[in-house]
Amino acid sequence: MVGPKRHFLPLLFLSLSAFFFLFLCHSYFSSHNSNTNFIHSLQKSNPIANPRFPNSPNFTFIIKVLAFNRLDSLSRCLRSLAAADYLSDRIHLHIYIDHFSPGNNDSLQLDSKLDGSHRILGFVDAFEWRFGEKLVHYRTENVGLQAQWLEAWWPSSDDEFAFVVEDDLEVSPLYYKFLRSLIMNFYYNASNFSPSVYGASLQRPRFVPGKHGNKIQLDSGTRLFFYQIVGTWGQLLFPKPWKEFRLWYDKHKAKGIKPFLDGMVTTGWYKKMGERIWTPWFIKFIHSRGYFNIYTNFLRERALSVSHRDAGVNYGKTAGPDSQLLDETSLDFSLFEMPPLSNLKWYDFCFREVHPGRVIGSVDELGSILYAVQKQETIIFVSLFGASESVTRNMLCHFERLNIWNYILMGPESDLLLDLSRRGHPVINADKFFNNIKAYKSIPSRYSNAELIKEILVKAYVIKSCLGFRYNSWMVDVNMLFIRSDLFLETIDPTYDFYVGKNFKLFYVRGSSSAKKFWVDDLLSKITEMVDDSRKVALPGDGIHFVYMAAKLMEQKGVRIKRVDETSFSVKIGADGVNQSSFGDGKKMVFWSTEIGPNLIQMQLQESGMWILDSDSSCMAVVCHRS
Ligand SMILES: *[C@@H]1O[C@H](CO)[C@@H](O)[C@H](O)[C@H]1NC(C)=O
Ligand SMILES: *[C@@H]1O[C@H](CO)[C@@H](O)[C@H](O)[C@H]1NC(C)=O
Ligand SMILES: *[C@@H]1O[C@H](CO)[C@@H](O)[C@H](O)[C@H]1NC(C)=O
Ligand SMILES: *[C@@H]1O[C@H](CO)[C@@H](O)[C@H](O)[C@H]1NC(C)=O
Repeated sequence: MVGPKRHFLPLLFLSLSAFFFLFLCHSYFSSHNSNTNFIHSLQKSNPIANPRFPNSPNFTFIIKVLAFNRLDSLSRCLRSLAAADYLSDRIHLHIYIDHFSPGNNDSLQLDSKLDGSHRILGFVDAFEWRFGEKLVHYRTENVGLQAQWLEAWWPSSDDEFAFVVEDDLEVSPLYYKFLRSLIMNFYYNASNFSPSVYGASLQRPRFVPGKHGNKIQLDSGTRLFFYQIVGTWGQLLFPKPWKEFRLWYDKHKAKGIKPFLDGMVTTGWYKKMGERIWTPWFIKFIHSRGYFNIYTNFLRERALSVSHRDAGVNYGKTAGPDSQLLDETSLDFSLFEMPPLSNLKWYDFCFREVHPGRVIGSVDELGSILYAVQKQETIIFVSLFGASESVTRNMLCHFERLNIWNYILMGPESDLLLDLSRRGHPVINADKFFNNIKAYKSIPSRYSNAELIKEILVKAYVIKSCLGFRYNSWMVDVNMLFIRSDLFLETIDPTYDFYVGKNFKLFYVRGSSSAKKFWVDDLLSKITEMVDDSRKVALPGDGIHFVYMAAKLMEQKGVRIKRVDETSFSVKIGADGVNQSSFGDGKKMVFWSTEIGPNLIQMQLQESGMWILDSDSSCMAVVCHRS
């Protein structure tokens, strides 16, 4: 027997990519975007002194339920919320009910839609919420998921948290106690707070949005981890990043800037669905800020929030729960014990592990990072002295594109340097590092203000550290870009220990014992001597820099240096522009004189398609390389 044919609504053209799509925007979406504004009557809750949050008497938790036309789903969702353990906290419930869209006006259908809405309203009105205030917001027209999410919350303080649930979710009775512990540990405990964290998702992580990204693989001991992607099946939002997002969205929307992020599956959704969905906007924002979400890994497909993937606009028929609800009976570990931040791993949109916060301030700290960073025993040191911020960020996008990760940035202490380390790039704080080498090499402190001397000495000592581990080191500035990734890994003539570029500051030191011996015995003391006597160093000048000095000293000592003519494999950008036809045939890099200002360089690189930063100064693309 063949059962009655199911009638899918037209929007199901999406169904092929349904699973992934629905992961981020599952319950429904409207057929048009409306700019309905509404005054959101967020009720100020009375600050109640909370003995469990001694530092946060104003802590406020609001549940935001986004509903549409599925009474059964909504009632299951609300019942699970009401069955949770809220300790003795006051918890508010805000329910947003979207209106049906006009569609065709066949009066029978209209009556049934009206009737459906009224039954939902009747149900939520009668629904008893004894933990705090209940607020119902019934919309006058269909606004869709984007407005439902975005307009659900404007944080009224930095102590207000929103937990957003769509109507076909069901939560575990333990969910609140868990979220509360998370907030306590990762928001209110200063030693575990990170400004990069925007919230926590209770759904089981399954989706990697970066094309060609890694599979999600975690060891069984990992209960919590950080991951960039937002999860829409039970998402806790922290107030500051959300407010920041709303303002960012406002600006971009108003200026007509689209949330395109190349290399992401979600950008394809946006191109199809446009303003019916909200996640591409949020994902673009998260990418530009380098923020992260907290996720759980409870094993055996368990989670504190599950989606029933109920029949609706997206599912022709109910797909059933995506995970198993974790409750007391299946609890076989200590759920509320929170690890320190430093024990947790961080993953980007490719599910590639990133390591935020590596700021190197001493020779010892450098030693412990070198091994982790090196590839084929080679490390690229990128000097940020005098570099412009946008040119630096553009270079890092090229590193991502080319799958180059064996680099360490070094530069004077600055907001940029700290921001780069927060985003996972290893950095050497040259000021601290300089003081550290000064401490045991007794370099006269009267030179500590000369940036050039600092730069020269830091570079010399960084190479010394590398040689200590027999690692090869490249020393480059931000006045170049790599077109291909093979430059640094090519077999290099092994009869030479030192390579020096003829035109600019490319410098290579082989990790050999002869190089080490020469560097440590002869060169370092000579460099130190030279900078000690400032008369011998013509300060400042483009001609005098680290590579120039090192090469000169090596020549004086009769050390063999390989002079490399970069023009044979690179394109030079001059003040008058780039000769486009000089690209191609095996060119590996472009470079330019430091005298060309950052704006001009940006223009020239834009012309050559090598400027890959967007208007937020973040990479236009996410590029995953399967590891
Ligand atoms: C709690 O809120 C009140 C009123 O806004 C404010 O005066 C007070 O400083 C807040 N307390 C803390 C610890 O933030
Ligand atoms: C209802 O349908 C009729 C005929 O198709 C149309 O003229 C009318 O404008 C529609 N009314 C609404 C409110 O959409
Ligand atoms: C804050 O976090 C640290 C590190 O995890 C921990 O040792 C400390 O006990 C926490 N403080 C409180 C008040 O929980
Ligand atoms: C541009 O480069 C090509 C190939 O290197 C060369 O033949 C041509 O003369 C160059 N044009 C100019 C204007 O420099």
